[in-house]
Amino acid sequence: MKIKKIELKNYRNYEKLKLDFFDDLNIIYGNNGSGKTNIVEAIYILALTKSFRTNNDQNLIKIGTDFASVSAEIEKKDKEKFKIEIFKEGKCVYYNDDKVKKISDYITKINVVLFNPLDVKIYNDSPSMRRKLLNVEISQINKEYLMLLSNYNKLLKNRNIYLKQMHINGNSSMEYINILTNKLIEYGLKINNIRENYIEMINSNISQIYKNIFGYGELTVKYESFYNNKTKEELIAFYKKNLIKELSFGKTLYGINRDDIKFILDKKLLKDFGSIGQQKNAFIAFKLSEIIIIKKKTGEYPILILDDLFSELDDIKINNIITMLNKEVQTFITTTDIDKINKKLIKNSIIYYIDNASVQRRDIYEQ
Ligand SMILES: Nc1ncnc2c1ncn2[C@@H]1O[C@H](COP(=O)(O)OP(=O)(O)OP(=O)(O)O)[C@@H](O)[C@H]1O
Ligand SMILES: [Mg+2]
Repeated sequence: MKIKKIELKNYRNYEKLKLDFFDDLNIIYGNNGSGKTNIVEAIYILALTKSFRTNNDQNLIKIGTDFASVSAEIEKKDKEKFKIEIFKEGKCVYYNDDKVKKISDYITKINVVLFNPLDVKIYNDSPSMRRKLLNVEISQINKEYLMLLSNYNKLLKNRNIYLKQMHINGNSSMEYINILTNKLIEYGLKINNIRENYIEMINSNISQIYKNIFGYGELTVKYESFYNNKTKEELIAFYKKNLIKELSFGKTLYGINRDDIKFILDKKLLKDFGSIGQQKNAFIAFKLSEIIIIKKKTGEYPILILDDLFSELDDIKINNIITMLNKEVQTFITTTDIDKINKKLIKNSIIYYIDNASVQRRDIYEQ
């Protein structure tokens, strides 16, 4: 899929901006703070309805105004229109001019793979951040997944409240807790299966990608879940056996809400044994393997955003990555230094120069 054009209104530091994009490489360059990430963030928001760098949509509205909008035309087999309006009171999402009711359907329509320098800290983040990474990736290709997650989380909340009540009051309807536990297991097993499959798909190509770009090393991702390889019956028996323990803590101690993923290079945990460079490289390989999965699952390549990759990798590696990517992958690169990009690649790209929210198209050979 290709994003053909985008329009921003009162979004971040842009009052009004309309940009056309190239089908292959789009380069956005300019000084720090000029508004490069804001543009790729807008593409991400259109795809996922949420930013990757703020949880508060209000931050997206240009300071001093009270409403922002981002709209775009995306080409798949046909042209499709996407729009998000952000108000102080909340946001509205539109697909082909119709208001969207089911976000879980909407977010499978535009697939974006984003590399953001802040993500590299994922190794030392809490497991919840790694689950979030996985959730974002899977929800783009699986409509059912977000619904399952939301149902699971509701059950988890209810189960925790009930366990606490049982703990405090000693009131105990075993029947009710069993119903909650059985439902938790049912949804948990489905989520576990989807996550397991996803990691399997990652592992079928990540090591090769890593070797192609970085030269050596056997890279795998390990999915760690309490539910792994357990049947429904085994889990029911387990929860029954451990109910007293959960009661004394007053909360659910086991489930897919504790899942984690680990990155392993040459049989060693990257978090504990990997160099910073190896950790970055592995994460980039993880992101690039997502591209292959999306193509396999949806028949379309996603839009790739490499935000500030030059701050993380040397020029040669980045130029290798871009050259290696299938020509069909529409790619966005932001950088402060255009000279780092190979001149041959620049020939087939559109280049935008940003100076404090003012955007100009540049032909680098005219400079
Ligand atoms: N809601 C907002 N209203 C107005 N301006 C905003 C808003 N949110 C962010 N900005 C401005 O946007 C600019 C940052 O933009 P952005 O993050 O896109 O910069 P960048 O070009 O990617 O910089 P860097 O190279 O450092 O990553 C800052 O000047 C910031 O003050
Ligand atoms: Mg930036």
